[in-house]
Parts: sequence; C-alpha cells; structure tokens
Amino acid sequence: MLSKNNKITKVDDRLKHIAFIMDGNGRWAKKRLLPRQVGHKYGAKAFKDIVKYCFELGIKTVTTYAFSTENWSRPQAEIDSIIQLLRDYNTEIIEDGHARIIYIGDKSNLPNDLATVMIEGEEKTKDRDFLLNIAFNYGGRSEIVNAFNKLIKEGKDSITEEDISNSLYTSGVPDPDLIIRTAGEYRLSNFLLWQCAYSELYFTNVLWPDFGRKQLDAAIKDFYNRDRRYGGLNKNEEKK
Ligand code: IPE
Ligand code: IPE
Ligand code: MG
Repeated sequence: MLSKNNKITKVDDRLKHIAFIMDGNGRWAKKRLLPRQVGHKYGAKAFKDIVKYCFELGIKTVTTYAFSTENWSRPQAEIDSIIQLLRDYNTEIIEDGHARIIYIGDKSNLPNDLATVMIEGEEKTKDRDFLLNIAFNYGGRSEIVNAFNKLIKEGKDSITEEDISNSLYTSGVPDPDLIIRTAGEYRLSNFLLWQCAYSELYFTNVLWPDFGRKQLDAAIKDFYNRDRRYGGLNKNEEKK
C-alpha cells in the first residue's frame, strides 16, 4: 500500500468507498477577495483531480456532496454557477471519463432540463467500473423519508434495516468506509445519515479548493491507523 517514499500507491478492500463533504469554497474565495463563484470554480477543479486520484488508487466508489437540499437558500447567482459547473462536468465525464455517475438526491422539481441532463449522464456511463455518486439536491433525512414511503407503497407492514438500505439512493453500494470533511466544520450537514453508522470520520481545516493528493494521502494514512471495532474488541484483545 505504501511505496518506498511513503506515498500511498494502492488501497486494499478495507477502503472500498470514500465520501467527501467538499466545504470551504466560499471562504477560499473570500480570502482572495474574489466572488464566491470563483471559489466553486476552483473547488470543481480540486474535485476532478481528487476523483481521478481515488480511482487511480483503486477506490471503487466515491461519493461527493455537491449541493444540499438546504443550499437552495443561497443567492441565485451562486446556485446558477454551481449548476453550470455540474452541467460542464457531466458533459466532460460522458466524453472522457472512466467513472459511472449516479446522481443521488431528489431529481424532481429541478430547474430547466437539469434532471434530463443528469439522467443522460447516468445512462451513458452505466457500463463503467468505478462509481461516482454525486449528491445534488441531496438531504439525508429526506432520503430516509423517501425510502420509508417507498416501502409503504410496496405494502410492507414491518421493515428491516436491509429493506431501508435497499430503498435509499445508494442501494447496492457499500456504506462509506471513510467520510472526509474539509474547512474545519465538525458536522455532517445532513449527509449520508443512514449510511454513516460505522464510517470513519476525518476532518481537516484545509479549504476544499486546496484539498489535493497530498491531503488525501494524509487522510488515508490516518484511516489505516484506525481500529474499526464495530462494537467488538480490537484484534489483539480478541486473542487474549
Ligand atoms: C462548499 O463550499 C460547496 C457547497 C456547499 C455548494 P461553501 O460554499 O459552503 O463554502 P463556505 O462554507 O461558504 O466557505
Ligand atoms: C454542506 O456544506 C453541503 C455541501 C458541501 C454541498 P454547507 O456549507 O452547506 O454546510 P453548513 O451550512 O456549513 O452546515
Ligand atoms: Mg460551507
């Protein structure tokens, strides 16, 4: 996993799924006296490189939080700029990418033809190996409510944890092993609330546009030093 110069080269199957709460674009721009939109543009650049790097490392699934159900309360110009970046990325990945995209979130009532564009992206990339979930108009609570409503419609009168997992946007995808949040905020902001039950959480003060390969290496090294006990004992104690 580590090369001679102590760089990460490949991950093993302890790290199948990594998720990012990409935060701090606005602060990055503000520090430079630039409009927030410029922060999102550089954030998108960082995002593209990190996704590429994750797949190079052999991480099979990446999930990124691009826009929450709460982010509609931002100024329209900022919302428009994020949507434009998403449209551009969608075209780029269809034409020149290795990842399959799935948009997780509510696709109903999105402006203009955005939902059509998203579905086209999903369709045209569906045979690819690596999975990129982009959370757009995503809220963890609403995802759970939708799942319950689906199960009610199916006529279930009692439900299991498996039923719920299988009714979420992430159905069939293993839960994230590692969730990384940038920009020094220690909260989940309604992200993957069901799926994060046993995820390792990693927080860094680095603002998202500055989050690069070096920062990801540091997070992965930290992850490999964690002891994931799932309520049991660690391996050394089990042997006693
Ligand atoms: C994250 O950066 C991107 C989105 C939420 C869309 P922010 O825009 O939240 O950046 P800060 O938190 O204001 O710095
Ligand atoms: C979370 O960031 C949502 C995304 C990264 C898309 P926010 O900036 O919206 O979260 P809060 O408002 O600080 O909790
Ligand atoms: Mg923020």
